[in-house]
Amino acid sequence: MSTLVIQDLHVAIDGKEILKGLNLTLNTNEIHAIMGPNGTGKSTLASAIMGHPKYEVTSGSVTLDGEDVLEMEVDERAQAGLFLAMQYPSEITGVTNADFLRSAMNSRREEGDEISIMKFIRELDSKMEYLEMDQDMAQRYLNEGFSGGEKKRNEILQLMMIQPKFAILDEIDSGLDIDALKVVSKGINQMRGEGFGCLIITHYQRLLNYITPDKVHVMMQGRVVKSGGPELAHKLEAEGYDWIKEELGIEDETVGQEA
Ligand SMILES: Nc1ncnc2c1ncn2[C@@H]1O[C@H](COP(=O)(O)OP(=O)(O)O)[C@@H](O)[C@H]1O
Ligand SMILES: [Mg+2]
Repeated sequence: MSTLVIQDLHVAIDGKEILKGLNLTLNTNEIHAIMGPNGTGKSTLASAIMGHPKYEVTSGSVTLDGEDVLEMEVDERAQAGLFLAMQYPSEITGVTNADFLRSAMNSRREEGDEISIMKFIRELDSKMEYLEMDQDMAQRYLNEGFSGGEKKRNEILQLMMIQPKFAILDEIDSGLDIDALKVVSKGINQMRGEGFGCLIITHYQRLLNYITPDKVHVMMQGRVVKSGGPELAHKLEAEGYDWIKEELGIEDETVGQEA
């Protein structure tokens, strides 16, 4: 079993504190969902874990099986088994989807143990078919001209090819029609298992009809303020976030230790 532990994480952007002491522990074989209002720092959490240079960790820790993730370069984080599906995947002109995937897979393997072209193509073909993707998407430049839904599906293709230990999926469900949502969920569910843990960031309970999370966390104003089971997501969908604010005595914009 592997464990990703986030302790008392504080993160600032351009000197403004966004994460204000966030705690979260995720094990392999678990799927957790993070829900929370807009602007509460969910994407900031994802970017900080992956090491985006704009997000400055001012205190706290992130460890993967005891190893200090915050000390690692971005590529080292990926090699250690962390994966991020971004809310807005970037387009990379000049790099085909297939080339990108093959080098990402090889970067997690030992030198001399690179995946053979034949094996890579077989895997790619079967996974694209599983995700009901058009085969010509393999030779297109990464995300260039992809529709919103194609980008999200492609993130799941990357996930299934790269087989990380821990994946953070930031709004993987946004902009998906119901068929695409089902395909994306199918891919995530197929990854479930002893060697895989997943953090699903979402606004909507809808995705969680297809992927039953082991835990649901509510994030507000820079920290996790409540955790529970799948029923918590239903309650949020039905009632919004006000009841949590009342329950915890949170006032808008003044939440937290400093309040
Ligand atoms: N790159 C950035 N530059 C400046 N401010 C940012 C940046 N990214 C996020 N923020 C700010 O940080 C806060 C949290 O944003 P974000 O993490 O994207 O929230 P969420 O994903 O929960 O909607 C917001 O106030 C947002 O404007
Ligand atoms: Mg976001």
